[in-house]
Amino acid sequence: KRVAVLISGRGSNMTALIAAAADPAFPATIALVVSNRPDAAGLAAAAEAGIATAVVDHKPFGKDREAFERVLDETLRAADIDIVCLAGFMRVLTPWFVERWTGRMLNIHPSLLPAFRGLDTHARALAEGVRLHGCTVHFVVPELDAGPAVIQAAVPVMPDDTPESLAARVLTQEHRIYPAALALVASGAVTLGADGRIAGLPQA
Ligand code: GRF
Repeated sequence: KRVAVLISGRGSNMTALIAAAADPAFPATIALVVSNRPDAAGLAAAAEAGIATAVVDHKPFGKDREAFERVLDETLRAADIDIVCLAGFMRVLTPWFVERWTGRMLNIHPSLLPAFRGLDTHARALAEGVRLHGCTVHFVVPELDAGPAVIQAAVPVMPDDTPESLAARVLTQEHRIYPAALALVASGAVTLGADGRIAGLPQA
């Protein structure tokens, strides 16, 4: 399977996916990294790893999300992409785009969904006083951060945690579960059923 990783920034999850896919036994190849920001640090890391990169800047399209997404979609299809991994990709995708990639698009979210959808998850987890926090790799559905989970990982919240220290603890788990979840989906072991639920036997 040919995978595109979509980023907007640092790209540490992208780097974890590239590292895992370097193993010949991994059931997917990272064929392309796409950023919507020309200055994303992850672009240089991808190029250094020998991965093809593309920039589809959303800014020239203004408020026309679908026009941006049409170019993104063309870029993915031109590279013969089978699976899309969102990894710190900071654009909300329209139902049009999501439906074109249904069952073939994953996202990593820094919380134990369905808790803390949206932004600032670590600060919100601390404000809420939860004792467990974590991350989720899920299939992307039109509703934001609402798709079914492929793998989740939990971490403890420590009494002296800051959003930064908690984020770092969660990020370590993100780097572990994203490649594992991609392997499950790329191998066909786990699929998104027509009923919107996970089919297969995810093993963390
Ligand atoms: C990660 O915490 C991811 O879960 C969130 O944004 C962050 C991206 O980090 N959506 P990176 O670009 O993968 O380093």
